[in-house]
Amino acid sequence: MNAEELVEVVLPGKVEPEGLQVRHGVVPVAGPGQVLIRMEATGVSFAEQQMRRGRYYDQPAFPFVPGYDLVGTVVDTGEGVEPGLAGVRVAALVKVGGWASHVLVDAADVVPVPDGIGAAQAETLVVNGITAWQMLHRKARVRAGQTILVHGANGGVGSVLVQLARAAGVKVIGTASARHHDDLRAQGVVPVDYRAGDVAARVRELAPGGVDAVFDHVGGRGIVDSWRLLAPGGTLVSYGSASTRDDEGSKQWPVLKLLGRVWLWNALPNRRRAYFYNAWAGHALAKDRFRARLRADLTQVFAAFQRGDITARIAAQLPLARVADALRLAESGTVAGKIVLTP
Ligand SMILES: NC(=O)c1ccc[n+]([C@@H]2O[C@H](COP(=O)([O-])OP(=O)(O)OC[C@H]3O[C@@H](n4cnc5c(N)ncnc54)[C@H](OP(=O)(O)O)[C@@H]3O)[C@@H](O)[C@H]2O)c1
Repeated sequence: MNAEELVEVVLPGKVEPEGLQVRHGVVPVAGPGQVLIRMEATGVSFAEQQMRRGRYYDQPAFPFVPGYDLVGTVVDTGEGVEPGLAGVRVAALVKVGGWASHVLVDAADVVPVPDGIGAAQAETLVVNGITAWQMLHRKARVRAGQTILVHGANGGVGSVLVQLARAAGVKVIGTASARHHDDLRAQGVVPVDYRAGDVAARVRELAPGGVDAVFDHVGGRGIVDSWRLLAPGGTLVSYGSASTRDDEGSKQWPVLKLLGRVWLWNALPNRRRAYFYNAWAGHALAKDRFRARLRADLTQVFAAFQRGDITARIAAQLPLARVADALRLAESGTVAGKIVLTP
């Protein structure tokens, strides 16, 4: 039925980026409840840096096709699916499987991309936009006039978080290496170099009364500094463990330690709150609510883009066949925004 060929990138085991394999096959057919998406843009997330080291806390067994999210056009609809979805540009959060020319997704999991947003632009806003929006507005519930600290302000999630916060009238202190500081200043962010000097001391100088929220994807021992930088009434949102990417041993333990700390901090009386944010929370147990929330929040992010509140920060755009270069680039520490892969 489909004359096209399936092209996908396989992660065969713990390998260097050059060890990723390109596999060719037959384009699948949408089953009941599914749509087939012809990929127009997918991307590199921090998760893939962890997965190639076997360090993502719930990655599947090797071999598998990575790719956390994608944007593309629906080219086939399965039984029970609204046929009008065919031809529509959609976005999907999949965790794995996105690095492929064609991807099967449950129809209930796709979110339409509004007209006027390009595929690569939309791609910068899927996992990054959902994560940033939900942490900012569902967890920290920031308000205009507040001050927040965003770690990794140049990264994929960080760059969307910063822009959404600025659009909400929030003052932002952002950590990043020095090469990104001019760019951050241009966005109204006060930059702090996380590779040089005492970050906590510098943030205290900038916000002597503490900050209203901290967004921490670094984890490790630094999470204690993030907690201590909070003003009374402030919120810590922990959402990753970038600092343990290259460690050996259990891949779950760093996250469990963060969960333990968060639990303890919330249990003690201290007028501050802590969360561990997980974009997949509720996915297994309350799927309908999960889907409704994801759809609503991604739609808000797309609307923010259309209003000009946020821009798509594309760090680089490479074809899927150059995924090894894309992953090397992501790991180089030179990147501002999202690395987008195209067919
Ligand atoms: N909990 C969730 O549901 C969820 C969902 C999505 C993402 N995340 C997490 O969000 C984080 C960002 O993801 P992303 O895809 O946006 O990644 P990304 O685009 O690769 O950006 C990573 C950012 O982290 C910085 N960084 C890397 N290693 C670091 C370290 N050891 N200490 C301090 N900063 C470090 C990078 O700075 P340089 O450029 O200077 O290296 C960059 O700013 C990841 O930790 C990821 O696991 C969590």
